Amino acid sequence: MTLTNKKLVNNDIGLVDRRIYVDKEIYQQELEQVFGRCWLFIGHESQIPNPNDFVANYMGEDPILVCRDSKGKIHAFLNMCRHRGNRICRADAGNAPSFMCTYHGWTYATDGKLVGVPGYKEAYFEELDRSQWGLVEAGQLDTYKGLLFATWDKQAPKLLDYLGDATWYMDMVVDRRDGGTELLGGVHRWVMNCNWKFGADNFGGDNYHVPITHGSLGLSGFRRSSIAQYGSVNGFISSPGNGHAILGGYRGPGVNPQLLNTHHPEVAKKYLLDHLPELKKRLGEHRGRQAMLGIATIFPNFTWHFSPMVRMWHPRGPGLTEVWSYCIVDKQAPPEVKDAFRQNYTVSFGPGAAQEQDDANNWFQSTASGKGWKGKTVPMNQMMGKGHEFTDESFPGTLGNSTSESNWRAYYGRWQEIMSASSWSQIRIDPRTRALN
Ligand code: FES
Ligand SMILES: [Fe+2]
Repeated sequence: MTLTNKKLVNNDIGLVDRRIYVDKEIYQQELEQVFGRCWLFIGHESQIPNPNDFVANYMGEDPILVCRDSKGKIHAFLNMCRHRGNRICRADAGNAPSFMCTYHGWTYATDGKLVGVPGYKEAYFEELDRSQWGLVEAGQLDTYKGLLFATWDKQAPKLLDYLGDATWYMDMVVDRRDGGTELLGGVHRWVMNCNWKFGADNFGGDNYHVPITHGSLGLSGFRRSSIAQYGSVNGFISSPGNGHAILGGYRGPGVNPQLLNTHHPEVAKKYLLDHLPELKKRLGEHRGRQAMLGIATIFPNFTWHFSPMVRMWHPRGPGLTEVWSYCIVDKQAPPEVKDAFRQNYTVSFGPGAAQEQDDANNWFQSTASGKGWKGKTVPMNQMMGKGHEFTDESFPGTLGNSTSESNWRAYYGRWQEIMSASSWSQIRIDPRTRALN
């Protein structure tokens, strides 16, 4: 099936064909056209501070190694030996001057060059051109304030154009203080029985589920926010372009109550409040009053939450997702504050965490519904708030009421656009409207 002439996302009405979560051919096309083309989050500079540091990750289903070479340049390589395809490194992270394949021993330097071939003289008769058989490298790699992104596609727009106005919101995490951010500790990884888009769209577009899905947390006192908060007057969501989706924006007086009225430990709340003047000075009044970026998904699979965490929804088949999740903090924060944020992230969105469990079960069921002969013929409804989108010159993007599905329409509209295009030349890039900080 090619999607070129097939409308699986109907934003005129607000419908999504359920096959996009279960169909094997659509999934294969996603690997090629979404994960093969888009800029993907691959890690953080704080993970590889020194020459020859490396950390493993994925781009789509492809395992990669993110390395800092001996001269300090960062690379993203397919973690695949050019001989027979064995992984060249099985460790999650470390420091090594080279990687030796455990199958026959081809060896690669951290700049990707093939530097060792056993039997080069006796078996290859010195005829193998080693310069042609280095590691396969990402088409482009770039950083945004410590965050590392890569794309396989050399024709993809530059990272800053791809992110566009989303950076205005991202800065509320990565540009809060001098020194930027770091990922705390290692990565939490687990596999879920759902399509990767359910996690990505939930964090980019779904405030509606909170009072019901997480209702027991409110009743138990874990969340202090009120149960019924549909359509908060001061809350908003934003689609800042290029498929990115921001939740948890605040346009009211004072400081965003969502961030300060939740489950952050007191020491963490105090830290956020104490540094508001610094945040306002760096990013201006409107962003300062947010206190932090609420929740977001950078298209296609990079998600943020103010707990505070960042994560990727790695695809593992149409009905399977591998989550990679990290706690992200200001590098300059004192140890007790970092520890408080780490604990809050762990109990909120770690693999065994309360909100994580609430969310996951719904996504399993929603994915499974599309496997049935009848279920797959019944479209999803994402009509909420259609026609009620608005703009506000203080905040970039198309805005929706805090409980609206306008971000979903933007996210899935982008998905459809990328799945239907034969190359980046056919894909629109929304212009940046805010200067870079
Ligand atoms: S597969 Fe790596 S050396 Fe043969
Ligand atoms: Fe949730």
